[in-house]
Amino acid sequence: MTRKILVTSALPYANGPIHLGHLVEYIQTDIWARFQRLRGNECYYVCADDAHGTPIMLKAREQGTTPEELIERMGAAHQRDFAGFGIAFDNYYTTHSEENRHFCELIYERLRDAGHIERRTITQAYDEREGMFLPDRYIKGTCPSCGAPDQHGDNCEACGASYSPDELRDPVSVISGERPVERESEHYFFRLQDFEGMLRDWAASGALQEEMANKLQEWFDEGLRAWDISRDAPYFGFEIPDAPGKYFYVWLDAPIGYMASFKDLCEREGIDFERFWAADSGAELHHFIGKDIVYFHALFWPAMLHGAGFRRPTTVNAHGFLTVDGQKMSKSRGTFIMAETYLRHLNPEYLRYYFAAKLGANVHDLDLNLEDFSQRVNSDLVGKLVNIASRCAGFITKRFDGRLATTLDAPELYRKFTQAGEHIADLYERREFSRMVREVMALADEANQYIDEQKPWVIAKAGDDEPRLQAICTQGINLFRVLAIYLKPVLPRMASEAEAFLALREQRWTDAREPLLGHTINRFKPLMTRVEPQRIQAMIDESRESLAPTGSQDRTTGELEGHPIAEEIDIDTFSAVDLRVAEIIAADQVEGADKLLRLTLDLGGERRTVFAGIKAAYHPEDLVGRLTVMVANLKPRKMRFGTSEGMVLAAGPGGEALWLLSPDSGARPGMRVK
Ligand code: 2FM
Ligand code: ZN
Repeated sequence: MTRKILVTSALPYANGPIHLGHLVEYIQTDIWARFQRLRGNECYYVCADDAHGTPIMLKAREQGTTPEELIERMGAAHQRDFAGFGIAFDNYYTTHSEENRHFCELIYERLRDAGHIERRTITQAYDEREGMFLPDRYIKGTCPSCGAPDQHGDNCEACGASYSPDELRDPVSVISGERPVERESEHYFFRLQDFEGMLRDWAASGALQEEMANKLQEWFDEGLRAWDISRDAPYFGFEIPDAPGKYFYVWLDAPIGYMASFKDLCEREGIDFERFWAADSGAELHHFIGKDIVYFHALFWPAMLHGAGFRRPTTVNAHGFLTVDGQKMSKSRGTFIMAETYLRHLNPEYLRYYFAAKLGANVHDLDLNLEDFSQRVNSDLVGKLVNIASRCAGFITKRFDGRLATTLDAPELYRKFTQAGEHIADLYERREFSRMVREVMALADEANQYIDEQKPWVIAKAGDDEPRLQAICTQGINLFRVLAIYLKPVLPRMASEAEAFLALREQRWTDAREPLLGHTINRFKPLMTRVEPQRIQAMIDESRESLAPTGSQDRTTGELEGHPIAEEIDIDTFSAVDLRVAEIIAADQVEGADKLLRLTLDLGGERRTVFAGIKAAYHPEDLVGRLTVMVANLKPRKMRFGTSEGMVLAAGPGGEALWLLSPDSGARPGMRVK
């Protein structure tokens, strides 16, 4: 039976560009949706820009434009980036749409009429100069716990304390710099606690991963509380129908954006909206999200839907965050890589494959290790998968005019490949992509082993058994075809090039069951090339250089707007660093150290030993006699090879690309650098 499936990814905020951290989710969802379509299910994948809220309103103001213009521009950029990565949405919309307004009002009114909305007056920080209430993140001040200055309204980065904004000492509005005052306002609350029983049942229905179900249990234990769904003007969003000057909080209208985007698709394509959203819908609804927004999707959202008479999600699937080379993505390290930057340098299918190879159905963080990335792509895709086709195609073209044999050389091996299909499909279905990739690659190994054993090149050279040569190569091509179909959700572009090479119409999952025999194929063109290390380096360098502030707080990385390079320090902190001109009087190799040189530095009388990671960039003999700049008051550090008594300054990403700083001529050892 064909299943009816609606799939969503979280809606990206319309105030910042898409980066690799976002892409984990869109690639994961896209693979799953493509898999469902490939299996012949009726599957729609919708998304939209999350266009409302204070940050977008302020960002537009900062850019001297309107929120409407900003979200229009960002929406177009997002769609370009997604298309670049082959994310095949059936619809991409915006939460700033009439459909969304309609559903927000409808849901709100139904919840209100059923008694799930209450009103309460609350006190909040207010910026008198700007004439607006301040969300916590727009208030800064001194931490009440440790005294660190310049901390956010809700928690301290220095000591980790959390508090409410009215506890901050010397609070200021980030927008105007003024001290906020307290002001009262009436807010609208959604009574989440009315839905505890329903949510418990729903959570027990297998809608959530185990970790998430446990999290929910903790939240139940803490007690569910009413959720503030209103914000005062000025606010970029939808006004609450019976409350002039009050707006729906962005997090209320964002998930409703899933419905609105789907509605837009239904109108265009004549799909029956009700079949997917009615309370008794037999269709499936699957949300893919990051682990940080589970509260919204596993509590508020099903409760809102249920309370308003709609169906609840079939599953909510959370994934972890992306790290790059084991660390949080960082602008200064050049690992905060925008989608657009990646696309300028590398094939998007490399990343689709790499993410697939590392994603499971859990919420673990995922590391993009750039070294491993190249190796994996080169060895699996180029060395194993494409290699199967390239080892056989030439003979078919040259010796048989592109014609495949009418029988396979090893039908039982082919059968083994097709029989693996259901297990592989099951792994896709359960979002166990890394296990699925392992299965497919194990088959690729078997295919290569078969070719190694049959040695078609030897038969070709001997020229005495053409039918066997044709049958072996036909076998290889067929094994390749099956694997290309299995990986089609991950590598859609490669799969479609493979279809062109094999002169086939668009393949479905079940097409793999029957081998291709007596069929004429086209000349083989390389379907995937190796990752070039210099392209990775260029991408990193460009990411480091393009320090354009994103202007948004990024939930996938935690990086904050307004600090394009690094956190600011005050002049006293800077003056505490004693920088001196130093002469390198000796530079030596350090036995057993890959990266270090031992430098002996003269500071105008005083000598220091410093271990510097500059071995790849300099020959020791070129350094002797040269002036450089060092941090002279760094606490000595014990290292494996001795104690380092300072640090020399160098520019560049590291490795060979490193340049020691030197003062202009005339400077003398020991001079202070200011
Ligand atoms: O956290 C975010 O990036 C939100 N823009 C996600 C919204 S998802 C859904 F609820 F719309
Ligand atoms: Zn603190």
